[in-house]
Amino acid sequence: MPAAGSLRSVRLDEEARVLEIIDQTLLPAKTVLLRLSELEDIREAIYSLRVRGAPAIGIAAAYGAYLAVRTSSARDREALAAEFRAAKARLASARPTAVNLSWALDRMERRLDASRDRGVAEIKAALRDEAEAIRAEDEASCRAIGEHGLSLLGRGWGILTHCNAGWLATSRYGTALAPLYLGRERGYGFRVFADETRPLLQGARLTAWELGQAGIDVTLICDNMASIVMKRGLVRAVLVGCDRVAANGDTANKIGTSGLAVLARHYGIPFYVLGPVSTLDPACPTGAAIPVEERPPEEVTERWYARRMAPEGVKVFNPAFDVTDAGLVSAIITERGIARPPYGESLPRMLAPADLPK
Ligand code: MRU
Repeated sequence: MPAAGSLRSVRLDEEARVLEIIDQTLLPAKTVLLRLSELEDIREAIYSLRVRGAPAIGIAAAYGAYLAVRTSSARDREALAAEFRAAKARLASARPTAVNLSWALDRMERRLDASRDRGVAEIKAALRDEAEAIRAEDEASCRAIGEHGLSLLGRGWGILTHCNAGWLATSRYGTALAPLYLGRERGYGFRVFADETRPLLQGARLTAWELGQAGIDVTLICDNMASIVMKRGLVRAVLVGCDRVAANGDTANKIGTSGLAVLARHYGIPFYVLGPVSTLDPACPTGAAIPVEERPPEEVTERWYARRMAPEGVKVFNPAFDVTDAGLVSAIITERGIARPPYGESLPRMLAPADLPK
């Protein structure tokens, strides 16, 4: 599947002891690789969306937590564990909505706890292996999501997507975009509409770029143009990623997703949410319990503009995500299959005992 060539959005250079990411704030004008080793730089990269997308920030945080202890001079397990937990808390606080961040860090902590009887060097190696496993499993999950997702689509279909849920947002292939890469390989001839995704333009800067690079037919639209392309019959399915799926199927994703779901329902278009099991949060009963990140007003008033567009001092509401009601979601597609409503019954079937809240 030609979903990234040799580029990876996030990877560990173990020899150099650095986390390597593509600085997504500079795309598509410049492809700059950042090589980060300091905990605060890694946290800043997550907060500033240099690395972004739910699975990718989980992987980056896992590597960040590993690197924090990799270079530690702690001589015993307790001292190392204390350093790990401090690093974990810093990284977990970078962004609140995508559950993959805390999921990956909790998984790292469980590995640390399971290595109780080991020496410091062995614990470090175990944490490296766990972070690598998180990355590798995400890659496999994205491939499987692509297969399941493609089974719902037809040849020549118009597809609408929002934000960026492609290889940039994951270890490889993406979630919502994975079926499109597979479809490209198999000659499906999709025509994709990418919402620009105000205010940070993940659709215009990232999705339009990565699909174009892969030779997929992509048309960029402003967020407020989704209705006209749907009304004209140009869209047969909406595919979006997710940042946290509550136990009842309510789904947090990039701001604007919920409005798209309302439109899709109005026009009778299936609305599919694609994401790995690591984005399901069975401990979160409904969307009302999902924390929604709010970001600085400048992202709305001046970022990307040659000069500020909004009056000085204007009040700004800048939520980075919204929650789509489960009732508007046609199916939730994970690496383990396709869940249909009622999600209170279908989502638990996606989960292994180890995935359930303790
Ligand atoms: O703020 P971002 O760019 O990290 O938001 C990303 C999204 O909302 C994605 O759709 C989601 O994380 C899924 S990525 C496979």
